Amino acid sequence: MWPDGLTTRHVFFTGKGGVGKTSLACATALDLANRGNRVLIVSTDPASNLDEVFGTDLGSVPTRIAGTANLWGANLDPELAARAYRERIVGPIRGKLPPAVIRNMEEQLSGACTTEIAAFDEFVKLIADPDATQQFDRVVFDTAPTGHTLRLLSLPSAWSGYLNTTTSESSCLGPLAGLQSQRKCYQIALDRLSDPGSTTVVLVARPEKSSLKEAARTQTELADLGIRNLQLVVNAVYDPGPTSDPVAKAFASVVEEALHSIPIALLDLPRSSVPLYAGNVVGVPALRAFFHSGVSIPESAFKPSKSRSGLEFGTFVDGLAEGGSGVIMTMGKGGVGKTTVAVQIAQELVKRGHRVLLTTTDPAGNLTECVGQGDKNLEVARIDPAIEVKKYAEAVLSKASVSMDEDALALLREDLRSPCTEEIAVFRAFADAVARGTDRFVVIDTAPTGHTILLMDATESYHREVLRTQSDAPDAVRQLLPRLRDPEFTKVVLVTLPEPTPVHEARRLQEDLKRAGIEPFGWIVNRSFSASGVTEPILAAKASKEIGPTDEAMTLCPNLLILPWSSREKPIQRNECEMVVQCS
Ligand SMILES: Nc1ncnc2c1ncn2[C@@H]1O[C@H](COP(=O)(O)OP(=O)(O)OP(=O)(O)O)[C@@H](O)[C@H]1O
Ligand SMILES: [Mg+2]
Repeated sequence: MWPDGLTTRHVFFTGKGGVGKTSLACATALDLANRGNRVLIVSTDPASNLDEVFGTDLGSVPTRIAGTANLWGANLDPELAARAYRERIVGPIRGKLPPAVIRNMEEQLSGACTTEIAAFDEFVKLIADPDATQQFDRVVFDTAPTGHTLRLLSLPSAWSGYLNTTTSESSCLGPLAGLQSQRKCYQIALDRLSDPGSTTVVLVARPEKSSLKEAARTQTELADLGIRNLQLVVNAVYDPGPTSDPVAKAFASVVEEALHSIPIALLDLPRSSVPLYAGNVVGVPALRAFFHSGVSIPESAFKPSKSRSGLEFGTFVDGLAEGGSGVIMTMGKGGVGKTTVAVQIAQELVKRGHRVLLTTTDPAGNLTECVGQGDKNLEVARIDPAIEVKKYAEAVLSKASVSMDEDALALLREDLRSPCTEEIAVFRAFADAVARGTDRFVVIDTAPTGHTILLMDATESYHREVLRTQSDAPDAVRQLLPRLRDPEFTKVVLVTLPEPTPVHEARRLQEDLKRAGIEPFGWIVNRSFSASGVTEPILAAKASKEIGPTDEAMTLCPNLLILPWSSREKPIQRNECEMVVQCS
């Protein structure tokens, strides 16, 4: 039974958004601590919720988890890391160079790329520097959703490769000196990550085809990085036994079908499964009970709970369709159903005769699979980092070739290979997509929270840069932030689940958006069991726990739509409009 047989010093949990990485990482760390190990659990997720799951305030310094003996926790705060990184570079020369130069350098080092590199530096230290974690027997990493993690894990080779070859002194990360000294650390980190004796990577998936497919994709990508010591944990496996409840039957058949079609790439991996937990996975007592199935279902759970009712779907879309064009962005934690909701909204707008561009900024997203090409009024696209980087680099080089000689161009080519270029390229593509909202609806399925916050930060710092330098930024870039801040033009829909951590993450995102001057249009509470009227005991118990989080969502945003649980893999009929949705 999980986590028996987990022997390595470092353990990483990775997987698609919302599959249960944090819940599993926390319960595993607690279990390892109960077995007498001194354990440190670390989150590298820019939108970490370790504090909430453990009920202990955490910072970047290890803190003992309340109610436990041998367990400590820490959050790698990218902002804090970026400030420290900036100070490491600028500090020594402050007062030696004119203030305007120092200010310029600080501005250059306040982009999203610096945040990512700085967070990565902290992460490398934890892996490569034995002193950093010597007081612990085990270090457990609750990583961020897939795209970001792979980028994080691939950076050692990207930077080691980049540092080995580059001769230029100019890089978007300021003097390379700050990085050169890290070269040895990067190499050690890469070696540790790919050493089966010291590192295990746990692929977490839900018993659903799309989630298992994602895990198979990650398995291949990690293998390409030389990381092969993988284990698969199928989380929230639901098996009610014989039941006549239609929702329970549909859910159980999704699980069964998925478990009978495990992708080939995963078949050879050691596999464990963890049952669907009938409560909310928050707090040390719940984490202790998490792996032990057959949780006792309280009598009161058998009474179907009174579900809350929000707006009708049609009414919610009426509000979105006001103005006849503009941008609609679905945002929220990984795995809450942003893509499903974005597709439903796009198809409803097309049904009402509107022209719609449906696109995604999620590096792992693939809308075409969900919708397929069909209606002439529906255009489906994707912001593909690799394609955007190629386009961006070509544009920069063709413009520079007018005035630069071959040596200078060679230097520029090298700089464009820096991992930061992707951030800029994706940002510009995002600005172009938003600009198309002037004559149609652009429905954007965004990436999980952490990543989107970074995109928003980039938007702000670029806007400051555009205003400060009057640079020749394209109009789409100049107009981006004003458009995002205009509630007539951009309508942000926060998608969440009727569970504590997803609702609190949506609340934090709403606060971040408001700080950036963006007022969300509405919230959608997705996959509500209490709204589905389920009576099967395990799901009814889960439904009874939804009332609290749903009420909280209503207080945070009155413009609320509650969508009942529906299988993510099966066609669904709706009385308002018939839709076929197949995606996660
Ligand atoms: N086995 C389970 N049974 C029931 N609920 C679960 C189970 N595992 C996780 N959950 C719930 O699912 C939601 C998502 O879980 P969690 O936050 O652990 O996922 P994650 O993969 O870390 O998400 P993210 O990608 O956003 O970091 C939470 O509300 C959690 O309580
Ligand atoms: Mg998480």
